[in-house]
Amino acid sequence: MDLYCVMGNPIHHSKSPWIHARFAELTGQSLHYGSRLIPPNGFAAEVKAFFSEGGHGCNITVPFKFEAAALANHHSQRATLATAANMLTLQGGKLMADNTDGAGLVKDIEYNAGVQLRGSHLLLIGAGGAAAGVLGPLLLAGPASITVANRTLAKAGDLVARHAALAAQQRTELRAQDLQTLTSTFDVLINATASSLTGGAIPVAASTLKPGALAYDMMYGSAAQGFMNWAQEHGARPRDGLGMLVEQAAEAFMIWRGIRPPAQQVLAELRRLVA
Ligand code: ATR
Repeated sequence: MDLYCVMGNPIHHSKSPWIHARFAELTGQSLHYGSRLIPPNGFAAEVKAFFSEGGHGCNITVPFKFEAAALANHHSQRATLATAANMLTLQGGKLMADNTDGAGLVKDIEYNAGVQLRGSHLLLIGAGGAAAGVLGPLLLAGPASITVANRTLAKAGDLVARHAALAAQQRTELRAQDLQTLTSTFDVLINATASSLTGGAIPVAASTLKPGALAYDMMYGSAAQGFMNWAQEHGARPRDGLGMLVEQAAEAFMIWRGIRPPAQQVLAELRRLVA
């Protein structure tokens, strides 16, 4: 059986083995997808061991996405822009890095939530790894503007500078802004900060929400609940990141197996499972 896994630390919470097993079942693919807990300084050695054991591909989660990109010999354009990878594949003896997080987010917003990004005004909150992983694919969806707002403005500035050429090509207005000084309103807000994990408040003012705006938290479960409640209270449409999780896995499955799994069905099942 072809061997896949997800690597991270911690890893016990990961839903990826369940999602990929379900995809395989529903598409009639024969594969095994496991999980590996990686010690803090052991990432490169574990990747090498996995592929020398015959591994086909692995997904990478926190905190190794940057190290995964650095380790690879070849990178997709989106992994290059993100400077981070959520999947590694061995092809012809070379390690290929890709990042399906952003494509998964766009798919969940446009297909599952039914909100078209083309022509919209978008607020991406945060400028860490999570934000970096999705900005390129968000630009490719053709919004009128994307504002990257972060507590530390310089980090938002770096992220925007790295994506300036793609933004110009897409004719999307891309700017960096300090979280505290936001005055505009937006059609779509995406929370890519770790503020809920660190016990922080909602990182943005409610005045940024257009009525009925989509307020998306890239996390799910209790980590997303505060942001979702806040969005609901202020007339926005809340959505957590469970769909992004399933859709980024579906993109990876498609690349590895050449067959598109029924992501919406698996998302509905997973929602019932985590409820
Ligand atoms: P990740 O890989 O999850 O994105 P990260 O790279 O450490 O993690 O980035 C965390 C992001 O959450 C950053 O944008 C961080 O803001 P700073 O760049 O100013 O540190 C943001 N963040 C974390 N706690 C926050 C809080 N309480 N309020 C606002 N933003 C916060």
